[in-house]
Amino acid sequence: MNEFIKDFPLLENRKIAYLDSAATTQKPIQVLEAVDSFYKNYNANPHRGAYSLSIEATEMYENTRTKIAKFINAKHREEIIFSKNATESLNLIAYSYGLDNLNKDDEIVLSIMEHHSNLVPWQNVAKKTGAKLNYMYINENYELSDEEIESKITDKTKIVGITHISNVLGTINNVEKIIKYAHKKGAVVVVDAAQSIQHMKIDVQELDADFLAFSGHKMLSPLGIGVLYGKKQLLNNMNPFLMGGDMIEYVHEQETTFAPLPNKFEAGTQNVEGVIGLGAAIDYIENLGYDKIQQKEAEIVDYALQELRKLDYLTLYVTPNRKHHSSVISFNIKGVHPHDVASILDSNGVCVRSGNHCAQPLLRSMGIDSTCRASIYFYNTKEDIDKLVYGLNKAYKMFEKYIVK
Ligand code: ALA
Repeated sequence: MNEFIKDFPLLENRKIAYLDSAATTQKPIQVLEAVDSFYKNYNANPHRGAYSLSIEATEMYENTRTKIAKFINAKHREEIIFSKNATESLNLIAYSYGLDNLNKDDEIVLSIMEHHSNLVPWQNVAKKTGAKLNYMYINENYELSDEEIESKITDKTKIVGITHISNVLGTINNVEKIIKYAHKKGAVVVVDAAQSIQHMKIDVQELDADFLAFSGHKMLSPLGIGVLYGKKQLLNNMNPFLMGGDMIEYVHEQETTFAPLPNKFEAGTQNVEGVIGLGAAIDYIENLGYDKIQQKEAEIVDYALQELRKLDYLTLYVTPNRKHHSSVISFNIKGVHPHDVASILDSNGVCVRSGNHCAQPLLRSMGIDSTCRASIYFYNTKEDIDKLVYGLNKAYKMFEKYIVK
């Protein structure tokens, strides 16, 4: 039993082994109640009314921005921009910074581990500006070596895109080193923190990240809310990504002047319930503490690795360096399609993701096209892992006779 399950109604109601938190986490009652209370007591459109209810909604929305700025230690609260998700945040950077600041002699360097959301937008920038797109590849330990980083980031590099933690491999990248090196070469660094912020403290000033993106729904919040952090001076010099209400100062028939940060990047009515939910999720994480989250996760991940390594029919795609590994475990039963494995696991009440995990270039570079992925969060239990192992043994027995050895 896990002491936190009581906070998660879905986990109490469904009695499943939910091992897909890298796709989206379950939501604690504290977040659900905060959203419910917003609609019951405060619902109005922020920034648009002079009446008390709208002013209260505006305060709740803006106070959450301040809370997020403190949470990631941003220097200025207006460096926090609300978006739909990490994907939209990353697109905003590619469109508003990339298209306007790159040209044909420049290079964009990405890790091969990038999720499509920090890769496809940069392909578009490369195609439109003529800039060259280069990749940093992983070694046999599923990690980026220092030599690889230093050989790919050059004086021509203008953008480095790096995922903090790979959503397929669970590898924790050395973003501190990458940012330092990229800055030495004069490049701007875009950190995708979608798989890290739910597991570890992020301090954007200490990291010296230029841009950093994450999704709320992978850190206990409702779906449809994301954050973009950007250094103020960079954001100030960028053009808006979306245009419309609330992001303007004066609109004339032919010309418009834009609102200052952060409104410049928040066109249209925002996802206020998502913002409120994200604020409650941050409270939850801070009350629990990252130390506790990491201690719980490590217990379950260590147990999972120990048990999965006993299965000789399984290939695991995990760095042997435990310190560089988070809580995502990709694997395959040799000779069996991951979708078949995942559906047998499902029939045993185990939820894992199967497929290419929106990281086709990574899987292609590894010579495979898909994996099964179990991802663990602090609310998981050793029993969840036992169910996974039981289901895998069952799947292997079912398919054993068809496997070409
Ligand atoms: N990006 C999410 C994942 O890796 C959806 O599953």
